[in-house]
Amino acid sequence: MPIPTAATARRLRVPGDKSISHRALILAALADGPADAFGVLDSADVRATAGALRAMGIALQWDAGIGVVRVEGRGFRGLHAPSDDLQCENSGTTTRLLAGVVAGAGFTARFVGDSSLSRRPMRRIARPLSMMGADLTLSPDDTLPMIVRGGPLTAIDYASPASSAQVKSAVLLAGLLGGVPVSVREPHPSRDHTERMLAARGVPITVDGDRIALEPVDRLPALDAHVPGDPSSAAFPLAFAAAGGAGPDGLIVEAICISPARAGFLDALRRMGAEVVVERLPGWDEPVADVHVRPAPLRGIVVTAEAVPSMIDELPMLAVLASQAEGETVIGGAGELRVKESDRIAAVVANLRAVGVDAEERSDGLVVRGARRPLAGLARTHGDHRLAMAFGVLGALHGGAVTVDDPRCVDVSYPAFWADLAAASAR
Ligand code: S3P
Repeated sequence: MPIPTAATARRLRVPGDKSISHRALILAALADGPADAFGVLDSADVRATAGALRAMGIALQWDAGIGVVRVEGRGFRGLHAPSDDLQCENSGTTTRLLAGVVAGAGFTARFVGDSSLSRRPMRRIARPLSMMGADLTLSPDDTLPMIVRGGPLTAIDYASPASSAQVKSAVLLAGLLGGVPVSVREPHPSRDHTERMLAARGVPITVDGDRIALEPVDRLPALDAHVPGDPSSAAFPLAFAAAGGAGPDGLIVEAICISPARAGFLDALRRMGAEVVVERLPGWDEPVADVHVRPAPLRGIVVTAEAVPSMIDELPMLAVLASQAEGETVIGGAGELRVKESDRIAAVVANLRAVGVDAEERSDGLVVRGARRPLAGLARTHGDHRLAMAFGVLGALHGGAVTVDDPRCVDVSYPAFWADLAAASAR
């Protein structure tokens, strides 16, 4: 049921989902023949995946004007070794998913990235892929540069210590290309786009409790893909609306993915007291909806490990929003935040303190004590797009007295963020 103010609420469309965009390009490259991907996120991260696929022999035509990418799929054996390093820029998804592809394809590639990506842990994929028979060489710190030497692989039933869709996807893609059955278990379910998209292309995928298993196939059909809006990008304007920035009628963000593995932030907003109405849209492969958030007095909440994967990328925004709530917000079981584009626990807490919020670090999370008072100061992004956007929202709520040091780093996932935030603003 739409809420009464739906007709007068501001409306916004956010860019295509980043995770689904990467997978749409990769699966199209591995398919037999050409396919179109509609609504692909045009950002630096997804461009890195496109560039890496091109370097491995895939023709890709990106029509930025209408948001369509035509990919000339060449089948499981159609990719070739790149003649130069695979430049993954800032993108962990590019690196880890394509490491699985190279491992299964049987050639050698060297993966490099920017200074942030070059600090992120790669042992988490090197371990299962080398157990399967690939040969991976990492830096002494277990980071990039990383050389992946694919080869004949063997089956694996892998218990991943981390709840990570990138690790799970690397193993599934290696099994797919290597022609061996694989299964993965993880402590709490991570986003399931790889499984959903493979199943939609006829790959036998079974989910049995916490175990995701793939049986190999010879080929993938070339299917067009339609990418819904990114809930992790939508979280920023929706948080802005929950805190009152979009006015009393709130904000509707149209056509975002609300699959259970991605919807944790909406549950958190509800628990904080915001009014959240979800209107399902028919005709998509994934659950997709228009989401309307209206402001209300917010209260602090507790977030525990089971809920973390379903809102992992939204946790910086949640922690910043907690500064606008009554009482304490405690986020736990979120140690993964330390190995994202920055150490998001340390950086969020340092920035909250820098602008006048009472916040403290825990080893696997953080505590924020809300208080509706004027905030001011400079937030340091460390080049991390999600920090820039979370503190950008706070800045918009506090009349610009909170500023960020590197607003352009949003290009990694949401190039139009600043314009959209201004459009969402009631001022
Ligand atoms: C992603 C998985 C998550 C998420 C990242 C995108 C994906 O990372 O944080 O932004 O597309 O698979 P992990 O798999 O490391 O948790």
